[in-house]
Amino acid sequence: MIRGESLSKTFGDIQAVKPLDIHIREHGITAIMGGSGSGKTTLLRLLSGLEKPSSGHVWFASEDLGRIPERRLFKLREQMGMVFQYSALLNSLDVYGNVAFPLHEHTNLDEEIIRRIVMMKLEQVGLRGFEHLMPSELSGGMAKRVAFARAMAMDPRVVFFDEPTSGLDPISAGVITSLIHDTVRKAHMTAVVVTHDVHAGLSIADHVILMWQGAIIASGSPDDIRASEDERVRQFIEGRPDGPIPFSRSTRPYLDDLLGTQP
Ligand SMILES: Nc1ncnc2c1ncn2[C@@H]1O[C@H](COP(=O)(O)OP(=O)(O)O)[C@@H](O)[C@H]1O
Ligand SMILES: [Mg+2]
Repeated sequence: MIRGESLSKTFGDIQAVKPLDIHIREHGITAIMGGSGSGKTTLLRLLSGLEKPSSGHVWFASEDLGRIPERRLFKLREQMGMVFQYSALLNSLDVYGNVAFPLHEHTNLDEEIIRRIVMMKLEQVGLRGFEHLMPSELSGGMAKRVAFARAMAMDPRVVFFDEPTSGLDPISAGVITSLIHDTVRKAHMTAVVVTHDVHAGLSIADHVILMWQGAIIASGSPDDIRASEDERVRQFIEGRPDGPIPFSRSTRPYLDDLLGTQP
């Protein structure tokens, strides 16, 4: 359904995503996992057309997201829902207004129809009855659920999640994880979930992609990943501090950073 081909992204001299091939299968959950700074968010932004590749292609069905006109890209992006790392709710709108926002922006539906859609989406995330709360009145977990409801408002073909459990207590994290799992299963949706949460990723995904320093170092079913003998994969899934994945990945010598000198 979505395919990255020789896809890469560089920012200045940082290769955030090194040339890679990736295939997001339709129906089900693909988890993109890896440590902080491994390129997960950048890859997600490339796959969703938010970022232009430095090289290669992103095929969404048969269209190359990096090469189609802006207008067409905006149209295609209506088929994609995004749940950003910090929920990114509009603080001036209540829960209803946030979930209705994409419908107001992209459709000419009557308010009565929009209201029904919003109620359905809030029911799906367990927040019907909370439509009049403002974002500042929501817990972190509730805000994520509102962001999820908003991402589903347009009945997208694919929903992208960036770190859906980060910053949440373990219980709220568990709620979000199972909500993503159950919703995707019931609605036959396609989801791409970026996470550094090994447990969450392996427990809900059909397909796992593991990144390290901008490259894919493993991919397969959760069981394939658990059984991997690659030292980097083992270090990541066992959460060990020591191993081939270094604690610091800055390429600048420490002293130069401390003294502000050029190497
Ligand atoms: N907009 C940007 N400008 C410059 N560097 C960036 C930008 N976005 C990401 N990077 C760099 O690219 C690398 C990968 O970042 P990111 O994709 O956010 O990783 P992750 O989501 O796995 O933590 C990091 O070194 C980060 O500092
Ligand atoms: Mg990230």
